[in-house]
Amino acid sequence: MCGIVGILGRSPVAELLVDSLKRLEYRGYDSAGVATLEGDHLARRRAEGKLKNLEKRLQAEPLGGHTGIGHTRWATHGKPTESNAHPHATENVAVVHNGIIENFRELRAMLEKQGAKFSSETDTEVVAHLVNSYLLKGDTPQEAVKKSLPQLRGAFALAFVFAGHSDLMIGARKGSPLAVGHGDGEMYLGSDAIALAPFTDTISYLEDGDWVVLSREISVIYDENNVVANREVLKSGASSFLVDKANYRHFMAKEIHEQPEVVGHTLARYVDMASERVLLPKLPFDFKDIQRISIVACGTASYAGYVAKYWFERLGRVPVEIDVASEFRYREAPLRKGDLAIFISQSGETADTLAALRYAKAAGAYTLSVINVPTSTIARESETVLQTLAGPEIGVASTKAFTCQLMVLAALAVAAGKARGELSDADEAKLVHGLIEIPRLMAQALTIEPQIEKLAREISKSKDVLYLGRGTSYPLALEGALKLKEISYIHAEGYAAGELKHGPIALIDENMPVVVIAPHDRVFEKTVSNMQEVAARGGNIILMTDAKGAAEATIESLVTIILPDMAATFTPMVYAIPVQLLAYHTAVVMGTDVDQPRNLAKSVTVE
Ligand code: F6R
Repeated sequence: MCGIVGILGRSPVAELLVDSLKRLEYRGYDSAGVATLEGDHLARRRAEGKLKNLEKRLQAEPLGGHTGIGHTRWATHGKPTESNAHPHATENVAVVHNGIIENFRELRAMLEKQGAKFSSETDTEVVAHLVNSYLLKGDTPQEAVKKSLPQLRGAFALAFVFAGHSDLMIGARKGSPLAVGHGDGEMYLGSDAIALAPFTDTISYLEDGDWVVLSREISVIYDENNVVANREVLKSGASSFLVDKANYRHFMAKEIHEQPEVVGHTLARYVDMASERVLLPKLPFDFKDIQRISIVACGTASYAGYVAKYWFERLGRVPVEIDVASEFRYREAPLRKGDLAIFISQSGETADTLAALRYAKAAGAYTLSVINVPTSTIARESETVLQTLAGPEIGVASTKAFTCQLMVLAALAVAAGKARGELSDADEAKLVHGLIEIPRLMAQALTIEPQIEKLAREISKSKDVLYLGRGTSYPLALEGALKLKEISYIHAEGYAAGELKHGPIALIDENMPVVVIAPHDRVFEKTVSNMQEVAARGGNIILMTDAKGAAEATIESLVTIILPDMAATFTPMVYAIPVQLLAYHTAVVMGTDVDQPRNLAKSVTVE
């Protein structure tokens, strides 16, 4: 799971490749590399770790050439060392790859028998040697790639350059996204339109099985049967500006603080503030005919879906199944024609979510996606797209995308309730009024940051943290635990508060902080009982509630974080703020790499 770029340029490309890779670093940052054609020869520079190491390397040993490819890596096969960094190359061909070649062992054994000498542990290197084996037999680069592609099993986006061919680049796509950028006497390949935004906004997306032969003037796309294919040329609209941190120390802090604004933008897209009505684009289905909804997503996006399950079931009285995409895609869920399948993804490129979308489409379900990147593969393949207007999310830990997803899903659930006759006009107006209040309440919630900062110093001393919640606060407890573990590396678990006594209560002692998310809603008293059970066993409780909740929860040795009073239905959007701030400040105290935590990538394009 990586980012790839290729440039057939009119000036030296090494720096341009790095500039483009900066926009792709969200796909992985274990290592990076570029290869260019210096005269007729392929030359490479690669470096372990973040892109800045490659930049240093290139400063010390610059690379010339107007033709080149680049790569930023999230390690799948082989440790994140320089020798495993892409591009992989022989004397004749260099390749960058996003995806996994599943049959690389067989191919490697076969190629080694033929005398190929491998220098990495990666699956990708077999692609370079396979293509090279045909070049050595006298095939042209096009012939060599054409013969190699059918032998590769798995998922890939590939970009090749060839020694002695300075006006040629070949790309191929199966499973992993790849875009062709059309310039003025220049041509590009990239994992997405954002990577190519500094160079061109004129883009064609390859479809699965496509491969493309590029020169500076012409691109010829072939489908999986090697028949010339016409793929639409689009204006991408991706911004060429690299987003900066403004005055914040980390992107994550900036993104947490942006939430009132971007959730407000998202709100304005999906509700009419004046009439207090939900405002959706025309949907290809009527909610009143929907028998069942399946919501599918991964990680934080799946927790947004989990919250939405409560909303759809309560407001729309429609049964909802929620699945993580990696399970959904293989469990052969019996979707029926006319069911509604909702996919949630910030990046719109998550491999499992994309596979689940294709499964649902094949089953005849209506497909609706809640996506932050409108040019992404999931957005392009979904029947209906409801965009979150979070703007670029750079911090690997999702924050503002999550709350914007919640805003879209809340509007959708209200629309479902209305269409199914479960909500009256007055109910709709009341709920929409509640949504209109959210950005202001989020801004208010941000003012508790100094208290959370102090608390984070305590939490940072812990080995494990438990998060509890009931109702819509339960998925938020799962999200709180995920956020803390991914950026601070402290082990954390989220639990339904009522489940505590069925096992995890055994963990409670004075060293275990327990974060209880409990707005004063209809399950508040139940959650307080569970909190009493923790207190009775010496657990340290951190209660996130409102003024009323704080007044009623009379437990000693309690840290209380008081959030604004609000309508009970939509509390997760506001309570997400202290949950995110606690993870963020704990990670800052721990000194971790907050925006690019170890082993993670922003976009997970492998299964
Ligand atoms: C956690 C996080 C991940 C993503 C997940 C899905 O903070 O960001 O769990 O939510 O990888 O990614 P998208 O939303 O791009 O499909």
